[in-house]
Parts: sequence; C-alpha cells; structure tokens
Amino acid sequence: MIRRAILLGTGSALPVRAVSNAELAQTVDTSDEWIVERTGIRNRYIAGDDETTASLATDAARAALDAAGVAAQDIDLIILATATPDQTFPASATKVQAALGINDCIAFDVAAVCSGFLYAITVADSMIRSGAAHRALVIGSETFSRILDWEDRTTCVLFGDGAGAVVLGVEESAEGARGILASKLHADGRHNGLLYVDGGPSTTQTVGKLRMKGQEVFRHAVVNLASVLNEVMGMAGLSNSDIDWLVPHQANARILDATARKLKLSPDRVVVTVDRHANTSAASVPLALDCAMRDGRIKPGDLIVLEAMGGGFTWGACVLRV
Ligand code: UT7
Repeated sequence: MIRRAILLGTGSALPVRAVSNAELAQTVDTSDEWIVERTGIRNRYIAGDDETTASLATDAARAALDAAGVAAQDIDLIILATATPDQTFPASATKVQAALGINDCIAFDVAAVCSGFLYAITVADSMIRSGAAHRALVIGSETFSRILDWEDRTTCVLFGDGAGAVVLGVEESAEGARGILASKLHADGRHNGLLYVDGGPSTTQTVGKLRMKGQEVFRHAVVNLASVLNEVMGMAGLSNSDIDWLVPHQANARILDATARKLKLSPDRVVVTVDRHANTSAASVPLALDCAMRDGRIKPGDLIVLEAMGGGFTWGACVLRV
C-alpha cells in the first residue's frame, strides 16, 4: 500500500483594497505602461490597518476547509509560510489556530520567502506520509506592502498582499495514483544580498525594508525554476508533456514565459495571476492554485506542478495529482 498526502480543498483571501498601476503612478515615479511591459502586473491588493498576515491566512484557511468539507477540529497540523508575520513571535500559525477555534494541534511558521509555500507543503507531505499528521492546513500569507520602500520604484510596484491555503488529507491505496507524487527543495545562501530585508530583531531591532537586485534575481529564477521542475518530474517518473497545469510563483510574466519556453511547455498550460495580484511572495502559488481550481481549469485527475523561487535563494517544486 502507498500512503500519500492528497489535496482535499483550496481557498484564498485578498485585502479589500485593489490598487491599479494608474493609482500607484499618482504617488510613485512610474507608469502603467512600464509596469505592464516589464512585469505583466496590472493590479495588486494592499492590506488595510485591520487586515494582517494572520487575518488573511485565517480567511483563506476557512475557505479551504469549506471547499474540503473538513471541520477545523479535524486539523492536526498548521504550517503557515510567511516572511511578514504579525509578530516576531509567536508564530502567526498559532494565531490562525486560535482564530479557527482549534485548541490543540501542531502549528508553526516557515520562512522561505517566495518559496515558503513549497517548503511548507513539502514538510506537511513528509509529516503526513510518516504518520505524524493526518489532516493539514498549509497556508501562504503575506503583507509585503508593510516591508516595501515606497520611495523605491524598482521594488514597490512589484508586490501585493494576499493569502492562499490548501487542506491536505491522507490516502492509502495500492496504486497511489492521487496526491503528492514528488517534491524537491533547494537553498543557496550565498545569494542573500540579491533579495533581502535590511532589518531584523537580531541586527537592527527594526523590521526593515525589502531590497532586490531585480535583474540578477530574474536570471537565477529562470535557470533554477526550469532545473528543479525537470528534477522533480524525473523523481516522479514523468515527463513535461504529462503536465496538465503548471502553477508557478507569480513574480513576473516574463519569468513565466521564459520558464515555459525553456521547458517546452505551452503557455496555455501555465496558470497566470500576476496581472491581478502582483507578487504575493509565499501566498502566490496557493492563491493561483485556488483561482484555477475555482474557475474549473484544474479538474480531478489533472497532473499539476507547483514551483517557486525566492530570497535566500530558496527554490522548489512539487508534482501533484489532483
Ligand atoms: O519573488 C522573488 C523573485 N523576484 C523576481 O523574480 C523579480 C525578478 N526581476 C524582475 O522581475 C525584473 O528584473 C524587474 C521587473 C524587477 C525589473 O525589470 P528589468 O527589465 O530588469 O528593468 P531594469 O531593472 O533593467 O530597469 C530598466 C529601467 C531603468 O532605467 P534606466 O537605468 O534604463 O534609465 C530603471 O530605472 O527601468 C527603470 N525603472 C522603472 N521605470 C518606471 C525601474 N523601475 C521602474 C518603474 N517605473 N517602476
């Protein structure tokens, strides 16, 4: 018998306030034309004072539980991927746990920035397959608007806030056809200086602001994403032509195009939401996944691949039969 973590449901949440490129151009020295041409972004959502990483995560988690038909009390593991927690500690996952009314389960945050959801779902998968957990909530939630330097047009136009969540269950079957088939994670800490926040409790005692050398990150992203995707498909014993949907991290439409070209994947097989949400870091993959599940593009039986790359650098991919 093969024991696998299976996808039971997805959910997402966005702040109330949508901000178009045109609105941004009123306060930042930029233009709709530049942003669309260089990134594909047309809109992002920005959290209000009463919207936080934990509150968005809780809303996304509720939607995922509803879609899965699972009661909050049946969850025994919550992993929240975020680089923008409500507090330095405790983990925002425990705030989500309390908001959902779960009195006892495992709950912790994972910090791998834009790859955070891939790290979180891979840990959840391992814990489910080992028997340490049975029903997991895996969430990516961010309020990057709080760590942007709004004077720096090279970064502030690129990011947005939001959350996405999945509920994972467990299935034992002879074929093991459904569920997470393979996942692979990487990190290379030598690239800290290309994408980072210039503050932290142990260094400056401040939260800090996001800093990025965009062009260098771009180059690494295309190479690393294509390579980890090939790696994980090999681990699953499948080829790229078996992929029904690629659900990539949504940083830049040009990165998505270049990665699809490198992998010889049709652009029609790539879920793109960067135009609507901008880069929501750890939230971007589960947010895109939820959009494509709800609009009916992803159907039961489809083979999907999740992938992301972000600060660290960290990157990873996960193959999943829905
Ligand atoms: O989620 C983690 C992963 N992150 C990423 O994957 C981001 C990867 N990098 C990128 O997406 C792209 O490199 C950017 C979108 C950040 C930048 O695009 P680019 O085509 O590499 O532009 P650039 O940095 O080469 O800048 C070109 C020009 C510069 O002007 P000069 O020096 O040529 O006169 C910039 O000053 O565009 C200027 N510029 C802007 N102009 C209007 C930079 N930002 C803006 C802006 N509005 N917001």
